Amino acid sequence: MPADTQPPKPARVLSGIQPTGRFHWGNYFGAIRQYIELQAVGESYYFIADLHALTTVRDPARLRSLVHDAAVDLVALGLDPARATLFVQSDVPEVTELSWLLMTVAPMGLLERCHAYKDKKSRGLPADAGLFTYPVLMSADILAYDATVVPVGEDQVQHIEVCRDLAGAFNHLYGEVFTMPKPRVVEGGARVPGIDGQKMSKSYDNTLDVFEDPAVQKKKIMRITTDSRPVEAPKNPDEDHLFALYALVAPEADRQRMADMYRRGGFGYGEVKKALVAAAADFFAEARARRAALEADPGRIEAILADGATRARARASQVLARARRACGLERQAAGAPRV
Ligand code: TRP
Repeated sequence: MPADTQPPKPARVLSGIQPTGRFHWGNYFGAIRQYIELQAVGESYYFIADLHALTTVRDPARLRSLVHDAAVDLVALGLDPARATLFVQSDVPEVTELSWLLMTVAPMGLLERCHAYKDKKSRGLPADAGLFTYPVLMSADILAYDATVVPVGEDQVQHIEVCRDLAGAFNHLYGEVFTMPKPRVVEGGARVPGIDGQKMSKSYDNTLDVFEDPAVQKKKIMRITTDSRPVEAPKNPDEDHLFALYALVAPEADRQRMADMYRRGGFGYGEVKKALVAAAADFFAEARARRAALEADPGRIEAILADGATRARARASQVLARARRACGLERQAAGAPRV
């Protein structure tokens, strides 16, 4: 069948998420929500990148609990194991083997230009080979599942470019083995301010966490910095990070009402903070309930991950077999000498 009469292939979505601790609003509204929405588009794979996390987490008990928590949180936030395949990266050893095959076609110069390694080096910090080859493992993650669409944040686009380069180099040498993926930079990803108005980030210690203890979260919200203009003064909601946070979690009608109140003036920020506490509680109530149910049934999340690993391995082993055959590691292939 000529190429142009082939039916379009359905998208196969894949993304990896580093288990770096409890997700904050920046992680959720900036990225995770959009990743999860894509589970409706076609076949989808989401994994917890524990092998990548080993480049920063060196405490085994902590790594185990980070991986568990990330899985629980993702399912609680709406990742549906009946629709998407959720698994842990290291449960699919095919990926690490594939990573080696890709390593043999990865130019040093290409990896030297990658920012995670380059930044560390430019700051005079020692880097290990795991960090240096991080983009190769990430390429294997993507290629092992024939992923076509990889939703990522802006900071990961360079790594997808590396993946495309390596896939191209391998295909050029050995034939069409790998499917070419495309990055999908998360759209509609909100820029989420922290409680101090800077970008929300763990390193600035200004986060609101998705599953934070409500009392702790309330205290943090009450501490959000605000300006000292008089109560009566009209204010522009679009220039206020307290409003921006409220807008993320409030229903549309309430958001409009709040914006009007800002423009009219004559309100105190304390009122807005209280509304934010309530809106946040409502917004995440369902996820919180799902999370409590998952935590109460520890076998459940492990069963989801085990099932995900089985499904993920089924595909990755096919792709790995293809790659092994193509580059001559498979001795049973036609033309190989018989013994
Ligand atoms: N490096 C990604 C991050 O830090 C996580 C990741 C690992 C990933 N493997 C991946 C993302 C494959 C997309 C595809 O965010």
